[in-house]
Amino acid sequence: MSTPPHTHSSGKCPVTGASGADPHAFCPAQEGDSRAPCPAMNSMANHGYLPRDGKGVTADIIVDALMAAFRLSKPLAWALTHGALLLLDQGSAPFELHDLARHNKVEHNASLYHPNAGPREEYAPLHGDAALLKEFFATSKDGRVMTAEDVARVRVRREAATPIDFVHAELARGEMAIVLNMFNNPDAALHDEGVPLQPRSSVSSFVRSLFGYKDTGANRQLDGVPIERMQYWFEHERLPPDWTPYHETTLLETIGTINRLRSAMSAMRKTGEGQVQGEGEVEAEDTAKAPAKSVEVEAAKVGQHEEEDVSDDENAGGVPSLSHSRSATSETFSLPPTPQTSQFVTPPLASKGKGVDGIATTNDLEPRIIGKELRELEEIGSEQVVGVVA
Ligand code: HEM
Repeated sequence: MSTPPHTHSSGKCPVTGASGADPHAFCPAQEGDSRAPCPAMNSMANHGYLPRDGKGVTADIIVDALMAAFRLSKPLAWALTHGALLLLDQGSAPFELHDLARHNKVEHNASLYHPNAGPREEYAPLHGDAALLKEFFATSKDGRVMTAEDVARVRVRREAATPIDFVHAELARGEMAIVLNMFNNPDAALHDEGVPLQPRSSVSSFVRSLFGYKDTGANRQLDGVPIERMQYWFEHERLPPDWTPYHETTLLETIGTINRLRSAMSAMRKTGEGQVQGEGEVEAEDTAKAPAKSVEVEAAKVGQHEEEDVSDDENAGGVPSLSHSRSATSETFSLPPTPQTSQFVTPPLASKGKGVDGIATTNDLEPRIIGKELRELEEIGSEQVVGVVA
């Protein structure tokens, strides 16, 4: 993939210079850059996987970027991109990220942490809403990770407040299905604290048991994404420093999680677990359920990151953050400014069978002779392939 030049609309990057040594160093949007209501697209632009000014974007550029930045499989990256661009209905000409905010094309109401579009607005707001975000994480049952069930609970609530059509409801599930599969690196410490591992199908478990394999918190993805990691990504549109693209996120895996979200949502609707409420209100029941390690505690931890980041800001001359908004003045998150310089370097992609930074991949943990077959068995056995993928 050819790396887009490290420039913004102004023609240069004020943080890393016009030709930074690291083409994927983080740099938030600058005045005149174009951004989308999508944390993935924006973070790829902020790291230079997409053009940093968010303009002149094509399907091929997005597919390559999704594979390089997030390690999506090619079929998933292709289906996601072409599905979205079909809905956007702008033909195949290059477009800018803000085009994705056109309401009721790909963008929809009842988002997790973006406000709804106004009744006559052609473009939806790009900024996140701090109250919605707080409400989102307060829904975590264990206060440590967001699971598919936690996300389903929020989606039920958001769609009860603002109903959306089936296609957009599937899209909304698809967005979070990828997040859930992408950011769930193994974590022995969290597993010791009770966070379960991602479930395997009985077929896969049986075959693995024949070969004596045992899943542990150190070698198997968690069944959930740490709140702190997800929150950092949403708020800063920056690749989380504690994350490595541990495994490839596949199309089948994503369809499986979409199905899981859909089933959980329909079960919750039957039991009345979702509640209608206005935007920004924290549902009392869910908040009451939130355990000792609450969102405030998590927020405080993120705050620690911010303290370091703010000093980066000072070094960089305190350029105001445009993260999550099109203009410097429309920032809704009441958070410290997004850092302008970054020590964080996107980790290199794991080569096949080798982990990033020495972390073993699934391939390392299974004999080559059965590794691929096991994964296929797992994918086919665990989920019926139903539904549309975003
Ligand atoms: C790694 C791949 C991707 C991930 C993990 C991802 C994740 C997300 C998430 C979590 C949201 C929800 C924000 C919210 O509810 O407030 C979102 C929204 C959105 N994404 Fe992405 N996305 C990905 C790729 C894409 C691509 C390829 C496109 C289009 C080319 C796209 C377009 C959008 C749009 C238009 C929205 C706004 C939808 C809304 O109104 O909530 N995304 N994305």
